[in-house]
Amino acid sequence: MGRGRLIALEGPDGTGKTTQASLLATALDALLTREPGGTALGERLRAILLERDGIRITPKAEALLMLAQRAEHTACVLAPALEEGRWVVTDRYTGSTLAYQGYGRGLDMEELALACSWATGGLQPDLSVLLELPGAEARRRQAARGQLVDRLEDEAASFHHRVAIGYRALAEADPLRWAVVDASGTVDEVAARVLEVVNQRLGPLGIAR
Ligand code: TYD
Repeated sequence: MGRGRLIALEGPDGTGKTTQASLLATALDALLTREPGGTALGERLRAILLERDGIRITPKAEALLMLAQRAEHTACVLAPALEEGRWVVTDRYTGSTLAYQGYGRGLDMEELALACSWATGGLQPDLSVLLELPGAEARRRQAARGQLVDRLEDEAASFHHRVAIGYRALAEADPLRWAVVDASGTVDEVAARVLEVVNQRLGPLGIAR
């Protein structure tokens, strides 16, 4: 039995990533998981990290909490599933840390990349799919969801702009491991684009598996 494949859905807030991660996991019969979260520790840390008007968290502490939940998630969920030959779809992974804590918060990218690699034991997604939307469209979708925004979503527009630019730079720097998908249109249209790019990159379903 071969090793499974790890696919990360990435993108700024409001791009429909969570919906698409779920549809992709169903289409691939893959394990669906998310970050921050995915384990008991991860879900506790998620509550701390995303609580709006919660405790103050400095950028380095925020990065380390993201990496703490990732270390747990990788060791306890991702690595064992991949080892068993399962395909896994994760709603966010290392790309989020590089985009949000690196480009967004301005932490040193090299140090951050090294810390990510330490936390994950070097596990990288076989493919990170970046869902891209014009900023105004993403904000409109977020407003339409009508939810209370969380601590990170509550950041200034300039922060989200840096995150979006960061994602684009990450995808352009590593085109073999990243695919950029246009997230505009209907849920079904975007799902079809995502599945197409996964099939192109990781082999048609049933052959690569
Ligand atoms: P998300 O699950 O997309 O939130 P929601 O379910 O409300 O759409 O992501 C939670 C937030 O955490 C998001 O703003 C991005 C942020 N985040 C980081 O800043 N760094 C990370 O490493 C991860 C995994 C997430």
